[in-house]
Amino acid sequence: MTIILGIESSCDETAAALVSDGRVILAQHIASQDEQHRPYGGVVPEIAARAHAERIAPMVEATLADAGMSLADVDAIAATAGPGLIGGVMVGLVTAKALAMASGKPLLAVNHLEGHALSPRLADGELCFPYMLLLVSGGHCQILWVEGVGQYRRLATTIDDALGEAFDKTAKILGLGYPGGPAVERLAATGNPKAVPLPRPLLGSSEPHFSFAGLKSAVLRASQAGTHDDADIAAAFQQAAIDCLIDRLKQAMDGLGEDLTRADALVVAGGVAANKAIRGALETLAAGRSLRFVAPPLALCTDNAAMIAWAGLERFASGQSDGLDVAARPRWPLDPDASPVRGAGVKA
Ligand code: KG4
Ligand code: ZN
Repeated sequence: MTIILGIESSCDETAAALVSDGRVILAQHIASQDEQHRPYGGVVPEIAARAHAERIAPMVEATLADAGMSLADVDAIAATAGPGLIGGVMVGLVTAKALAMASGKPLLAVNHLEGHALSPRLADGELCFPYMLLLVSGGHCQILWVEGVGQYRRLATTIDDALGEAFDKTAKILGLGYPGGPAVERLAATGNPKAVPLPRPLLGSSEPHFSFAGLKSAVLRASQAGTHDDADIAAAFQQAAIDCLIDRLKQAMDGLGEDLTRADALVVAGGVAANKAIRGALETLAAGRSLRFVAPPLALCTDNAAMIAWAGLERFASGQSDGLDVAARPRWPLDPDASPVRGAGVKA
């Protein structure tokens, strides 16, 4: 049996997990920093890095203790090495390096996006390569073609905001607090999506890329007008987001041509995949294209260390590991060959 210790610290969750090649999460701990960041309505990098530094070592200890294991029982140590908030990434990666050095076990520097991309295979033993992946989180919004471990083709990305970011900003505008996604989803369930006209940026455009900045501004204007019910605004925003996702995915599918017939499934991952209305729309889209729809359980969608341990395990199983000098990377595209997108800002 192969057992990997995984560490995640690239945003506002500090997490450690032990995962086996039998697709079993042997133990895991996760601490959210929501309380620390709430007063600011978003993640403050300096606060995040300090919180990771305080929590990570005790969390690794607790995870090993829960599984009744020591480092001697672990085959390799995996940590997120990017992309993400660099202070936090460095805390997790340096912790993993120290553990690897002390135990003599191999180190795996894992791309956080690869964690999200492969985590559906931890939950679903049937999921085979290749598959089409919609990766939607607070920092990322991409459509990827996952050909195999380490083989990712980026079909689309956002030219401005990530979808999770748009959910968080909508929550802020509507005074729903942080983190915003779940709150917007709850309020949207009680509203009428047709009551507020909102734009669908890039709908019908030939490249399958996303744009959500204009939608967010329209939400702000609708809210400032003072004539709409907040629940209606939330519902209209969520419906516009869904319409954009489905249209862009259809475009990406059409662009794949024959390749799509090799796809095992349409897969969704990342924090926004927790949204049930979005899941429902994706499921319908997949059924219409005779594709299986795979979504990891909610706890595996948002940031966690089990997905990092699993991605590390998949790389370890294919004979890979990293040196103790491996760098922490604030930016780290999964597909280095993807051409830059006009208008794209800082989002990967
Ligand atoms: O993957 P994740 O935990 O962190 C990043 O790597 O970004 O994703 C967090 C994002 C946040 O923007 C949060 O608002 C969004 O996922 N999110 C949701 C829902 N739950 C979390 N968005 C929409 N509906 C939800 N139910
Ligand atoms: Zn994430």
